Amino acid sequence: MLDFRTMRHELAEVYDLAPNEDLAESMRDIHEKMDRVVPWPDFVKAAPYIAAINKLKVEKDAVILAHNYMTPDIYHGVADFMGDSLQLAIKATEVEAQTIVQCGVHFMAETSKILNPQKTVLIPDIEAGCSLADSIKASGIEQMRAQYPGAPVVTYVNTTAEEKAASDICCTSSNAAAIVRALPEDTIIMAPDQYLAQNVAREVPEKTIVWWEGSCVVHERFTAQDLRDYKEWNPGTAIIAHPECPPDVVDEADFSGSTSGIIKYVMDNKPKQALLVTECSMASNISDEVPEVDFVGPCNMCPYMKKITLEKILWSLHSGETEVHVDPELGKKARVAVERMIDLSNKLGI
Ligand code: 13P
Ligand code: SF4
Repeated sequence: MLDFRTMRHELAEVYDLAPNEDLAESMRDIHEKMDRVVPWPDFVKAAPYIAAINKLKVEKDAVILAHNYMTPDIYHGVADFMGDSLQLAIKATEVEAQTIVQCGVHFMAETSKILNPQKTVLIPDIEAGCSLADSIKASGIEQMRAQYPGAPVVTYVNTTAEEKAASDICCTSSNAAAIVRALPEDTIIMAPDQYLAQNVAREVPEKTIVWWEGSCVVHERFTAQDLRDYKEWNPGTAIIAHPECPPDVVDEADFSGSTSGIIKYVMDNKPKQALLVTECSMASNISDEVPEVDFVGPCNMCPYMKKITLEKILWSLHSGETEVHVDPELGKKARVAVERMIDLSNKLGI
């Protein structure tokens, strides 16, 4: 557990982190990317952290991989690469820097480590978990294998190395349906997201899909009635949902896709009003790029993703905490399932 007092005391001794308007002025180009959502005084406060992180990255030969759910100060201020889970996993295989700072949740950092056992992978808060990854253990996968003999196990990347190692192939929200469709077997086990599995089952009706009963605490909060209400009050609102939402919620959407798929849909279609049925920072991160779009809807935040802050990223680079370790033998097995996914995705052109 992070000791905030020690962290703040030590950072204050080494870096000048006082709000600095001149420094913020010199970084106007960064603020312009979040002008609609980050007020200037907040940026003046964030600027010293952004400057210190960007300097330390160079000194420490580090690269920051950030998920689309990071807050705008991280997403636009310090990230070297932003993307959905599949894009981040692929990027992790390409980076040259010796250290990867994973701004996302633990399973993402673990995936980077599995793909780069020789590199240092840091996560700014080791407690950034995921309700899906917490919902299953490798024994659960073995239990399902026993129940459905011969059925391959497609495991969502939102799992720990143990479950990945116990599966045949991984998937993400951007390739799940295509991967299931490409497998030769008729019955497929999907774990641990019941809703992703149910949404895939509708897209790939020729297969029998069985699932584990896990769910995402962010996406299960949206209801079909919420979306119907928006459509009634604001006709014309584009409803864009992540496939971790229950199927009756996805039914109300104009489009469903991964976080990067959602961004692409908004960029391509530029609806007058849009409701992104996913984590709250997504709308904030793209808001300035599409000033013609008004984002509506509730702000459902992922409590795990929101554990990652500029202050903790600076601490992570400064102190080398917290390094992610994966047992090498386990990592090798998990890597097979992750690489199968990447190879099949490349083959299918995803
Ligand atoms: P994406 O792969 O769509 O970015 O999803 C990751 C995630 O955790 C969504 O909740
Ligand atoms: Fe996990 Fe849901 Fe948070 Fe994504 S949004 S990290 S699936 S809890």
